[in-house]
Amino acid sequence: MTTKKIYILAIESSCDDTSAAVLCNTKVLSNVVATQEIHKQYGGVVPELASRAHQQNIVPVVHQALAKANIDKKQLSAIAFTRGPGLMGSLLVGTSFAKSLALALNIPLIEVNHMEAHILAHFIDDEEMTAPPFPFLGMTISGGHTQIVKVNHYFDMEVLGETLDDAVGEAFDKSAKLMGLPYPGGPLVDKHARKGNPSAFSFPKPKVDGLNFSFSGLKTSILYFLQKHTKNNPNFVQENIDDICASVQHTILEILMEKLDKAAKETGIKHVAIGGGVAANSGIRQRLQDARETKGWTTYIPKFQYCTDNAGMIGIVGYLKFMENQFTDQGIAAKARYAIGS
Ligand code: KG4
Ligand code: ZN
Repeated sequence: MTTKKIYILAIESSCDDTSAAVLCNTKVLSNVVATQEIHKQYGGVVPELASRAHQQNIVPVVHQALAKANIDKKQLSAIAFTRGPGLMGSLLVGTSFAKSLALALNIPLIEVNHMEAHILAHFIDDEEMTAPPFPFLGMTISGGHTQIVKVNHYFDMEVLGETLDDAVGEAFDKSAKLMGLPYPGGPLVDKHARKGNPSAFSFPKPKVDGLNFSFSGLKTSILYFLQKHTKNNPNFVQENIDDICASVQHTILEILMEKLDKAAKETGIKHVAIGGGVAANSGIRQRLQDARETKGWTTYIPKFQYCTDNAGMIGIVGYLKFMENQFTDQGIAAKARYAIGS
């Protein structure tokens, strides 16, 4: 029996990465990401510049994705795009582009929630990844969000806990900025942490009820810690960067793992999947790996390219929605605040 081939073109433009992917059913044929370098000099994402860069990047990125997949526009079955959450000016570029192209090609349009996509990225057919069985716990850790989600089915998700202030990626990036590291600092903290001692310094962990998180206090305590030490030794950061990064990362990972553990105990679910940019962190990947033995969990860790923002994850949701006839009409608008399951 031959199954029908569904070709989805997916577009992601929610923050500072312009990305396009082409999928054939659950397989990613191409996944092109243009990361905007312009924000580095400002130490964070500048929304207006992000929107302008998306406008410049979107056409070449889509062309490249089609060319790499060796697919002609006319073969496409549908266009999927990130509707939200994200920066309004950024979302508008992808949304308008997707709507226009779907109209021109006379094919269906599929809207995708970015946070659901970080979770459903696990269903991309890839020999290095296994799809988790339902129900599973998804922890989405990114630059804009930190959530623990009970995933009952593809489009039946319950948010069990989330951050009350900063996202975990922000905690990494802001700590890095305090140490003088460029944006985005998360990957650099990770790099230094691998060479440092995680017990060299200790930072307080916040006391937050239930399965919610808080990261803003950590940033403040790191600020005071650095001020105190650089007063006596102006080279304190340079001399101890590996140990500071390892200790900061250790504190963040402890916070994440404690809540994940609590969620697993409360729900009785032992299938645990992570997603989002911070899921690229080597420390959290190791912790999850270890939890297979220490906690008896089955853990699911996406490939690096499906952790940070990418259109491949938008495409898999597009395909799953296509199979359920979940299409959207041309009247759809981007949604900067867009809760999972809403
Ligand atoms: O999912 P993502 O690409 O964009 C959002 O949807 O926010 O996540 C970006 C975040 C940034 O805060 C970045 O510093 C963080 O993910 N990140 C990391 C690592 N790689 C990316 N944080 C820690 N360690 C990493 N290796
Ligand atoms: Zn993201």
